[in-house]
Amino acid sequence: MPALVACAYASRMEPVVPVTLGREDTPAGEVVLRRRGEVLELFVDGTFTMDTVDTSTEVLLATEALRRHPAPGRVLVGGLGLGFTTRAVLDDARVRHVDVVELAEPLVRWAREGLAPELSGLEGDRCALHVEDVADVLRRGAGPSGCWDLVLLDVDNGPGFLVHPGNADLYRTPLLARARGVLRPAGVLVVWSSHAAPDLEQHLRRVAGPQDRIEETVLEVARDGRTFHYALYTLARGR
Ligand SMILES: C[S@@+](CC[C@H](N)C(=O)[O-])C[C@H]1O[C@@H](n2cnc3c(N)ncnc32)[C@H](O)[C@@H]1O
Repeated sequence: MPALVACAYASRMEPVVPVTLGREDTPAGEVVLRRRGEVLELFVDGTFTMDTVDTSTEVLLATEALRRHPAPGRVLVGGLGLGFTTRAVLDDARVRHVDVVELAEPLVRWAREGLAPELSGLEGDRCALHVEDVADVLRRGAGPSGCWDLVLLDVDNGPGFLVHPGNADLYRTPLLARARGVLRPAGVLVVWSSHAAPDLEQHLRRVAGPQDRIEETVLEVARDGRTFHYALYTLARGR
């Protein structure tokens, strides 16, 4: 039997059994963190949200915003997830403070308790985790206040594949205008999407000021033998 076939046969015979690290109900649905071999997986409200097979686009959400700003001192991250965007932000020494806003309280608790190494060690002098709905933070109704140089939003699988139906507003004009409103001059808002989202780009153009720049960045990711096109939508605020 050729080696490749033997390997496929063996993997069919011995599927990796996932191990649940944490499972809790929340008002916004069940949150599950589990380990499948080396891979860490997150499910929110019955929906696969992300895993650690390829986190390049979660990192790019941070690095694409960071490279567009000369002095990104304060950063707001919407959606802790498995912490890859936040860690990439913290890797930039220019960043003095990061506010991470996460809806699922258990996930924040597991990050604090060190349930999985990927999620551990984020909170500290330069980083605060907040249990809130990021929409409420943008509306100035809860959580951290002030203005930020970067606002990074990754709370769903994109506007066409919502984890929570209530998140739909985050991709529309009124809340995007709020997101622009919490940016300092020259600030940058970036929204992650698992698919091209022309409607989101249109909503961003509606809230943009005359000096703002809007960009779509398509990201190609190969996984499970398929090619996916994720996207980042950026609003760079004028000075
Ligand atoms: C795809 S994950 C984020 C991945 C993250 N960028 C990373 O690097 O790991 C989405 C996260 O957003 C959270 N979330 C969903 N809706 C939210 C909301 N309205 N406010 C804050 N967090 C939210 C989910 O619970 C989940 O942890």
